[in-house]
Amino acid sequence: MAMQSLRGKVALVTGGSRGIGLAIARALVADGAHVSITGRSAAHLSAARPTIEAAGPGSVETLQADVRRYDEVKGAIDATVARFGGLDFLINNAGVGIFTDVATMTPAQWSEVIDTNLTGVFNACQAALPHLRQRGGGFIINISSLAGKNPFKGAAAYCASKAALNAFSEVLMQEVRYDNIRVSYVMPGSVATGFSNGDETKGADWKSSTDDIAAVVVDLLRSDPRSLASRVEVRPSRPQKK
Ligand SMILES: NC(=O)c1ccc[n+]([C@@H]2O[C@H](COP(=O)([O-])OP(=O)(O)OC[C@H]3O[C@@H](n4cnc5c(N)ncnc54)[C@H](OP(=O)(O)O)[C@@H]3O)[C@@H](O)[C@H]2O)c1
Repeated sequence: MAMQSLRGKVALVTGGSRGIGLAIARALVADGAHVSITGRSAAHLSAARPTIEAAGPGSVETLQADVRRYDEVKGAIDATVARFGGLDFLINNAGVGIFTDVATMTPAQWSEVIDTNLTGVFNACQAALPHLRQRGGGFIINISSLAGKNPFKGAAAYCASKAALNAFSEVLMQEVRYDNIRVSYVMPGSVATGFSNGDETKGADWKSSTDDIAAVVVDLLRSDPRSLASRVEVRPSRPQKK
């Protein structure tokens, strides 16, 4: 397949201040794209900026916006369009995990996971679609998880949020394909990040790296518009033996 250049393209990466989202933002800027990243924490956004700027010829904008709040996400998308002149790619990466049995999970914890991992993606897609259509097409990539198809105990909210995200992605893909907007979802297994207050160095010898996931995202974006890898599973090739 012919590979498309990302030079001059405009992307918004939700949750781009740390982990997988930060690696995606770096990879896009390295390829010459203009990238806005969002996050909740202003301190994390400020810390991320120089590492993204150092990645290459593209440019970066940092925008404080909680994906759970439609008005904040729409504001970030509108600010991106105002700064860079349009929007080509939306990478829905922001996500949280709270892992506890249903019996002990509080309603607030349930809402935090579902509102971030599922409603947050709806919010960003809904606000971005007019801009992608205005551009004559684009690409939405949702960072899901293998947990969306492999449920495990103690993870009801997380697994449910990602299973629903997979269904959402497949519906959206069918709704917007004739507007030249492609929709894919990427399902990583274990990735070495600080996700869910974890230690990003723990298991780094066998887990996928954030750069591995970023490379998959860049490959999708660069792929010939004739075809669509709509669902991608990425797992550590040699997971730790139990
Ligand atoms: N790590 C894994 O093993 C793994 C595996 C499969 C899938 N995933 C998925 O990959 C995605 C990224 O995970 P990660 O491991 O990179 O996590 P991470 O290191 O914890 O980073 C999460 C990012 O999302 C942002 N974020 C969280 N809640 C947000 C909200 N409400 N609004 C805006 N931004 C928000 C965080 O910003 P702040 O700094 O402001 O909190 C941060 O930039 C998630 O969707 C996760 O489910 C991860």
